[in-house]
Amino acid sequence: MHALEIRPQAWITKPGRSPVLQVYSPRISSLIQLQKVHGGRIFKLTLRPFSPFHLRLGQSLVVTSDSRTLPVKERGIPRLKIRAGPAFGTGEHATTHLCLRYLTRFLAWSAKRNTGVLDLGCGSGILTLAGARLGARAEGWDNDQSAVREAERNARLNRLTARARFRKADALRTALPPADLILANLYDSLLLQLLPRLDKHRRSGTTLILSGILRGQENAVIRTARKLGWKLQRRGRLGRWFCLQFGHQEKKKRTP
Ligand SMILES: C[S@@+](CC[C@H](N)C(=O)[O-])C[C@H]1O[C@@H](n2cnc3c(N)ncnc32)[C@H](O)[C@@H]1O
Repeated sequence: MHALEIRPQAWITKPGRSPVLQVYSPRISSLIQLQKVHGGRIFKLTLRPFSPFHLRLGQSLVVTSDSRTLPVKERGIPRLKIRAGPAFGTGEHATTHLCLRYLTRFLAWSAKRNTGVLDLGCGSGILTLAGARLGARAEGWDNDQSAVREAERNARLNRLTARARFRKADALRTALPPADLILANLYDSLLLQLLPRLDKHRRSGTTLILSGILRGQENAVIRTARKLGWKLQRRGRLGRWFCLQFGHQEKKKRTP
């Protein structure tokens, strides 16, 4: 990968089976080179011309890939600019879109000032920065240094460096700080490893938003989370991707 001029992002869609790798790249030559180095077969190639990205989440947030002027009806809505770079997370992918929906709703309902948001696997920083734009104290972690650099660039672009911090850290190995909300747009096997690490968070009332879960894998995540005492609060789907929100499970009072 390092020999490539750009670093395409890869996503293994069927862990446990023969891996399928989805690679997003602005150039076909990079894909051909990748195939030469690693072997495998190009199964499907979809070409899409670059078009500026624009996502609106009701009256809560507008995410764009450039600085163009917004339509009048959107000018009063908080805005985030996320440039299309090497890190995952422009907002176009269903997993990110679902997280943004849940995050904006959570923050709209949160009565607390300075809500603490921890974004595990922050990629471009989109979710951390969305939280910060909406008033949260947000921290994003990624185990890929290039993603952290990209997230920091996006924080500067949006003038959010005072509210959003990024660090290179492995969410499965590093001690996790307290947070009111934890977002993790990872894939299911990582989420299953992450859940047992969140017991203190569950007991202190953290809300959990888990994304990156393919249809068919959501029940395993729900079962594991429930066994660990989490209560499923919301379940959403876009195409074949699920997003789950969990909260604190009240212990049943013993009847004498
Ligand atoms: C699907 S992307 C999500 C990016 C962004 N949060 C979004 O919602 O669009 C997952 C990110 O998690 C990072 N990642 C994978 N395993 C990780 C781990 N164990 N600890 C921290 N980050 C991890 C990857 O480098 C990648 O940037």
